[in-house]
Amino acid sequence: MDLTVFKNKKVLVTGHTGFKGAWLSIWLDTLGAKLSGLSLDPRTEKDVFVLSKIGNHMQDHRGDIRDLETVLKVFEAEQPEIVFHLAAQPLVLDSYQDPVGTFATNTQGTAHILEGIRRTASVRAAVMVTTDKCYENREWVYGYRETDPMGGHDPYSASKGAAELVIASFRRSFFSAPGNAAVASARAGNVIGGGDWSGFRLVPDIIRAYEQNTALEIRSPQAVRPWQHVLEPLGGYLLLAKHLLEAPADFAEGWNFGPLPHSVHPVGKVADGFFEYFRQQQPDRAMAGWRDVSSPDQAHEAGLLMLDISKAMHKLHWKPVLDFRETIAFTAEWYARYAGTDVLRLCQEQLNQYQELWKSRNEN
Ligand SMILES: NC(=O)c1ccc[n+]([C@@H]2O[C@H](COP(=O)([O-])OP(=O)(O)OC[C@H]3O[C@@H](n4cnc5c(N)ncnc54)[C@H](O)[C@@H]3O)[C@@H](O)[C@H]2O)c1
Repeated sequence: MDLTVFKNKKVLVTGHTGFKGAWLSIWLDTLGAKLSGLSLDPRTEKDVFVLSKIGNHMQDHRGDIRDLETVLKVFEAEQPEIVFHLAAQPLVLDSYQDPVGTFATNTQGTAHILEGIRRTASVRAAVMVTTDKCYENREWVYGYRETDPMGGHDPYSASKGAAELVIASFRRSFFSAPGNAAVASARAGNVIGGGDWSGFRLVPDIIRAYEQNTALEIRSPQAVRPWQHVLEPLGGYLLLAKHLLEAPADFAEGWNFGPLPHSVHPVGKVADGFFEYFRQQQPDRAMAGWRDVSSPDQAHEAGLLMLDISKAMHKLHWKPVLDFRETIAFTAEWYARYAGTDVLRLCQEQLNQYQELWKSRNEN
């Protein structure tokens, strides 16, 4: 993947203190970008952002994107050429606790970033990150295409579907003339990878159980989900930004960056994969593993939502690189090694490894 275009480019990442934003910032740093970020403070001392100290390699702005003046000040100070917008309230469960705050951050906050782009002549390309949940979920088995209608039942999904409409409106109203910023949106599903400590997510729960040596209780071990490593969509976002710079009119639209259909596996198999990895690393360590606590009368789970990724595969020449075993191994390796190590170097090693695999599998 030739990403030399980012060298010396002024790039603003919103959400840089978060899980995906920190990995993206580390990647852009290795590519030689002149980086800045706008986010709230990191959540825990163990976040990738904190452990990697990537904040020392960038202009690290802390502020709330719900406040337009804060956003405009950062654009004014940084004059970025490329924007990656990832700042969001990203959890469905939290959106039920705070629907108004979720809409304010995800929908209004996105409008504020777009206003920053509109008022800043230096911006040439922007990738606005939403989610696979932005589509109206029709509970069908086919992959959703970029042309399918936006929707969203819970407040998180609706806030992102609404953000997509706001992005499309700004694009049509303000960015369609040649020479204006090229603005695309990127839709990806749940990802796993080193340094995610969010509540109510399987991998962080596995790691907490492993570190505390308690048995992990899994309510739906048979439930199937797609499993994708965080570097897969991030590679897609970078490739998309590169194309936006090179041919703005052809790429300023919505893009899916989901996994391949065969990456769908049961939750229990993922937990097995992690504990097997840790057992191989530390054969003498006692490990409680996981146990099935499913009950016959538990609530029905929403159907699987898959993305159709044909467009990104054909037009961007992007496709997922890692198979299921490698996705687990990359993630488990990070958690097995992060304590007491140089985390920036660990992330860079994984990035190099990933890019080598990308080269050998995507460019032959
Ligand atoms: N992680 C996933 O599996 C996943 C799946 C689909 C889409 N996404 C999307 O990717 C993006 C990044 O997700 P993540 O998993 O890294 O989330 P995260 O919670 O780890 O990070 C969120 C980031 O947004 C910032 N932020 C939140 N509210 C803010 C506000 N009001 N003002 C300024 N900054 C604010 C946080 O400080 C943090 O830097 C989000 O847009 C999310 O919706 C994530």
